[in-house]
Amino acid sequence: MSTDAIKTQGNTLTFSAIPAGEGLRKALAMPRVDIIDMVRDSKLKGRGGAGFPTGIKWNFAAAEKRTPKYVMCNADEGEPGTFKDRLILSEYADLVMEGMTIGGRAIGASLGLIYLRAEYAYLRKHLEDTIKRRKAENLLGQNICGVEGFNFNIMVAMGAGAYVCGEETALIESLEGFRGEPRNRPPFPVVSGFLNRPSVVNNVETLAWVPCIMVNGVDWFKSIGTNNSTGHKLFSVSGDCEKPGVYEFPFGITVADLLKEVGGSDAKAVQIGGASGRCVPKKDFERRLAFEDVPTGGSVIVIGPGRDMLDLAHNIMDFFVDESCGQCTPCRVGNDKLLKGVEMLKAGTCSDEYLDELKGLANTMQVASKCGLGQSSSVALLSIIEHFGDEIHGR
Ligand SMILES: Cc1cc2nc3c(=O)[nH]c(=O)nc-3n(C[C@H](O)[C@H](O)[C@H](O)COP(=O)(O)O)c2cc1C
Ligand code: SF4
Repeated sequence: MSTDAIKTQGNTLTFSAIPAGEGLRKALAMPRVDIIDMVRDSKLKGRGGAGFPTGIKWNFAAAEKRTPKYVMCNADEGEPGTFKDRLILSEYADLVMEGMTIGGRAIGASLGLIYLRAEYAYLRKHLEDTIKRRKAENLLGQNICGVEGFNFNIMVAMGAGAYVCGEETALIESLEGFRGEPRNRPPFPVVSGFLNRPSVVNNVETLAWVPCIMVNGVDWFKSIGTNNSTGHKLFSVSGDCEKPGVYEFPFGITVADLLKEVGGSDAKAVQIGGASGRCVPKKDFERRLAFEDVPTGGSVIVIGPGRDMLDLAHNIMDFFVDESCGQCTPCRVGNDKLLKGVEMLKAGTCSDEYLDELKGLANTMQVASKCGLGQSSSVALLSIIEHFGDEIHGR
């Protein structure tokens, strides 16, 4: 894959302009607390979907006294329609590792772990070669960049193909060699994570932005995007459009403008945020992709005029029935009931009363499920029922 595989709106791709080592050297020249202040002041929010402020997360972990601490890179990328992290790891692994190393310096950790999804096994050698090279360049290892006592290493660990292992506590269970099931929270990983020690879990893209902020500065990052969603975002665009691929756009771009860029202007809807995100209909295409409007981890699936919305809903619910870990009842039983409900809708045998019951069940799952999987698995279905009533009832 060539280095310009990530498309922009005619600008230079940000990641391609950041030389390996520069962000780390800048970070090592300042006190640890200033690194966290920079990340916090930039208002960088997690790119894995939930949008938690990275500086605040790092600050919590830095405040913990217990050691050792860990920095984890979430490279599970299992959300349907998401493939931006794969490209970042292929082309800009240095930036990701640099973000981890800067995070290690900031919170006081000496080990980083990359949790790589099973389907990306082909990237393992590339990542391990990058680790080896960075050690040879003294960008990893002992006394990094000549800073006495700053030691940090990175290891790659493989996932085994479960979507739920992208959830940070299930990821940690899996890393520890247990079945990948989400933990009760609190305690949060920043207090008690990997091996019950303070741990920061960040998305691949979040980590890659950290050295960019170190090099270009807080004001540069804040000058892009919106007040509550600063910076650029990488979007994985697929579906019914002329130019699918990975794009760098500023946060706050409208759905309509994004569709223009990717050649999908005749879409009737866009599924934003993967299977766990919402379906945005054409009448809402002026809405903005930003945490304060339509939040997203970056998956954009364009839905052309000929698509059957119930087929989409069926596909999504089928996925969640498969991927629920089964630990809690609202998710294990609820997803199955919703899938059967979609099948009844398709067959024209679902009464209005039962549809209301299904909506009630979906809302209950959102509040009663233990982790984000069950809390979000009905979001797409509810938005499809809300916006495509004609298609659903016209059967
Ligand atoms: C079911 C489920 C799957 C998830 N999968 C991923 C994933 O593949 N990659 C990711 O970065 N975050 C994923 N997350 C979010 C993580 O739990 C966590 O919020 C994220 O890794 C934190 O990093 P960030 O703050 O940099 O976004 C998932 C969450 C849930 C509930
Ligand atoms: S919500 Fe679903 S995936 Fe999450 S713990 Fe419960 S059963 Fe498992």
